[in-house]
Amino acid sequence: MTAYPKTAALMARGAEFLGSEHAILCGAMSWVSERNLVSAISNAGGFGVIACGAMTPALLDAEITATRTLTDKPFGVNLITMHPMLFDLIAVTAKHKVSHVVLAGGIPPKGSIEAIKAYGAKVLVFAPTIALAKKLFRSGADALVIEGSEAGGHIGPVSTGVLAQEFLPALAEEHIVFVAGGIGRGEAMAGYLEMGAAGVQLGTRFAAASESIAHANFKKAFFRANARDAIASVQVDPRLPVIPVRALKNKGTEEFTAKQIEVARALDAGDLDMGAAQLEIEHFWAGALRRAVVDGDVERGSIMAGQSVGLVTEELPVATIIANLLSECEVARAKRLELA
Ligand SMILES: Cc1cc2nc3c(=O)[nH]c(=O)nc-3n(C[C@H](O)[C@H](O)[C@H](O)COP(=O)(O)O)c2cc1C
Repeated sequence: MTAYPKTAALMARGAEFLGSEHAILCGAMSWVSERNLVSAISNAGGFGVIACGAMTPALLDAEITATRTLTDKPFGVNLITMHPMLFDLIAVTAKHKVSHVVLAGGIPPKGSIEAIKAYGAKVLVFAPTIALAKKLFRSGADALVIEGSEAGGHIGPVSTGVLAQEFLPALAEEHIVFVAGGIGRGEAMAGYLEMGAAGVQLGTRFAAASESIAHANFKKAFFRANARDAIASVQVDPRLPVIPVRALKNKGTEEFTAKQIEVARALDAGDLDMGAAQLEIEHFWAGALRRAVVDGDVERGSIMAGQSVGLVTEELPVATIIANLLSECEVARAKRLELA
């Protein structure tokens, strides 16, 4: 018997889809979502997802093997669609019979959804528009994650609240849709579940959990930060595209703005050609998340964090974070049912 019956009822579809007790995914976070955090999330009844990021197939192989030694519960693997060895990585998930694969970072290339489904796994995708979401469902995707601009990491331009109002009425009855971005408490979870979401995905709330291997400096930066400190990177010059990333402001974010101005001026002066200029911008943040998460360089590293970082004030075990979310959701749901 669950301690959260009203929440369990709202999450039933999502939990069944994931094979977990609760329909709460911990979104993949590069360098953070490795064996320790992923197994802790799944052992606590949530659904952990390994962030493959730029890993080689051999590294992913080792990470899945290690995660399996720490949990017998289901977990997923997040693959970045533009990884040059995407199909080799899919072969690794197939070898381990990983039950769920999340394709992130762009439109899944031809054949990738089919390759995952061929060994019997379920595929979760992201889509910025309803039309694209429908197309991906037609191509075989099993579930959709909608992620608003409040989220940490790479973001789109639309807030979670607006995406939820657009996508859930259009898709959630027929399809499994998870909502991500800016969720820090159970009351917000209750709202999205009542709107038809099958479950929720959180990243920021879990990044500084006790089981997260993130450096102590990274965690401290989270505890100190307010929502307004988690800012999206800004593009200074239309010729030099910047993919927006939400991270805590620091020396690195200031220097990035200065760098863009410097490169734009060099472009104007003819000291750099367009290709070289764009590469300088693209390479600025190379390795920066690792510097912050692994090395603890919170001055110049990229401390990716969502706006819900203001709700993260102390280091808590994953099981406590999940229990808090569930009990907040349960109380919110009970109140609304009383009023109904
Ligand atoms: C430090 C950090 C790293 C992230 N890295 C990835 C990643 O490698 N792949 C990905 O699909 N999403 C990544 N995300 C996004 C999360 O998976 C998740 O969708 C997001 O954090 C949810 O929003 P929230 O931060 O408001 O909870 C990252 C987020 C953070 C905070």
